[in-house]
Amino acid sequence: MTVNTTAGLKEKKNEIALAGGQKRIDTQHQSGKLTARERLDLLFDEGSFVELDVFVTHRCNNFGMDEKHTPGDGVVTGYGQIGGRTVFAYAQDFTVLGGSLGEYHAGKIVKIQQMALENGAPIIGLNDSGGARIQEGVAALSGYGKIFYNNTISSGVIPQISVIMGPCAGGAVYSPAITDFIFMVEGTSRMFITGPDVIKTATGEEITSEALGGAKTHNKTSGVAHFMGKTDQEVLEQVKELLTYLPSNNTEKPPFDLSDHGDVHRLIPELNDIVPEDSSKAYDVYSVIKLLADEAQYFDVMEKYARNIVTCYIRIAGEVVGVIANQPKVAAGCLDINASDKAARFIRRCDAFNTPILVLEDVPGFLPGSNQEAGGIIRHGAKLLYAFSEATVPKVTIILRKAYGGAYIAMCNKELGADLVYAWPTAQIAVMGATGAANIVFKKEISAAADPEAKRIEKIREYEELFGTPERAAELGYVEDIIEPAETRRRLISAYKMLADKDKSLPWKKHGNIPL
Ligand code: HXC
Repeated sequence: MTVNTTAGLKEKKNEIALAGGQKRIDTQHQSGKLTARERLDLLFDEGSFVELDVFVTHRCNNFGMDEKHTPGDGVVTGYGQIGGRTVFAYAQDFTVLGGSLGEYHAGKIVKIQQMALENGAPIIGLNDSGGARIQEGVAALSGYGKIFYNNTISSGVIPQISVIMGPCAGGAVYSPAITDFIFMVEGTSRMFITGPDVIKTATGEEITSEALGGAKTHNKTSGVAHFMGKTDQEVLEQVKELLTYLPSNNTEKPPFDLSDHGDVHRLIPELNDIVPEDSSKAYDVYSVIKLLADEAQYFDVMEKYARNIVTCYIRIAGEVVGVIANQPKVAAGCLDINASDKAARFIRRCDAFNTPILVLEDVPGFLPGSNQEAGGIIRHGAKLLYAFSEATVPKVTIILRKAYGGAYIAMCNKELGADLVYAWPTAQIAVMGATGAANIVFKKEISAAADPEAKRIEKIREYEELFGTPERAAELGYVEDIIEPAETRRRLISAYKMLADKDKSLPWKKHGNIPL
């Protein structure tokens, strides 16, 4: 049948849609995965996805490829609407030569990347592939190179989202790694540079592919991935939700929720009781976030990684805001290497995509220890200072409790460019905690005292009276005001309204040199 009749065209398209054939589709389903087209159907608004380059196939004759049939060359590409907004996407089709990437497969992805960039729309890649198509050699590698290049050029211009829904191995992992967000499906997705077999041969280490590169490993331990879900369906819903917090490109603001948010001046008395009187006691910063957010909704980014810092999107009176919050419940909210990396990346996403920032600060300091020093806490912590300083979007900092030392600065104080800094009455802004300070400053006096312990306590109290309140910082103008916690939400609504047209630019440069 040829395509020069409607019936022939339909038959041909059905054949292409069947991709690697029913047997391989069944295998895909049996392994808990949807097919490329089923995934796109779920992702896009009903009936809106338009497939491009439908007829493309390979032109390679090497190594038995002349006998291979590759409908769509193993990838479905196109555009459509998600939540009514245009989005471009590609979905690798594992039923066709394991979704392996050959010259024309890559060419289809590259075309979609360029269209997304030129049209200022997000791009989503659904990855399910055996990697570079072995038979196509250097042409396949060249294809990856072009994809990585386009990922980089589009970075900070349009949101790029990668969803790992099967294998993603070898150098292929670097396209997702360059994009803004990585989602993984538990149990079926894997990301690694070299698989278990190669590792065993090279080092003798035995490890399962799940432990090596599964969703939990990359969400909890490595920090490579940012989200995970139990099924293809669940993860695709998460992707759609994420898009509601992102603009289509860097010239737009994130979508504003126009629904009625009730009395924007209302007080939230529950906030007055969240921070415990005993400053050594922990509390859950999510309870603060939920009380500040519209409908108590937040969308966590890297929820399972470096849980001593929370990075999430919320809406405040309809406007999307990126929250960076110390979590006193985990490691007392100390900043460490992983927390610094997590927060710095999130700040840069916010800044690139015109998302105002809210800092909720309760930080006793950078985590002390030889592990942290040897791991380069200096270099990693510097990213946080750099990212906050460089961000020109509206930045509001609320000091809930501890704001000690370098960490006080690193959590965006006035000097790093916070537009407004408010302190709760429980705020303590100091170079360090009371005990450490008393021990250093009054070391001789304490040891010479008749009762050194009583002297130490006296000096600790003295210090706490001086620095245990935010009054001195407010008197010196380092915070705009000391506010009752209950009025925080209305202060924020007013702040972001005032800052809505903030126009700040940095001196011209080719690009900065963030300590990586
Ligand atoms: C060509 C491939 C392929 C590949 C899989 N296939 N990977 N064909 N090139 N890279 C084909 C298989 O021959 C098979 O074809 C079909 O896809 C399904 O593969 P199976 O092995 O039957 O499936 P499964 O058992 O589920 O195993 C999937 C797999 C395995 C784990 C992905 O196929 C595998 O290990 N593939 C090789 C992975 C790899 O090392 N790739 C190179 C990574 S390096 P038939 O016709 O039999 O159905 C890389 C470099 C990128 O990608 C560099 C960027 C700079």
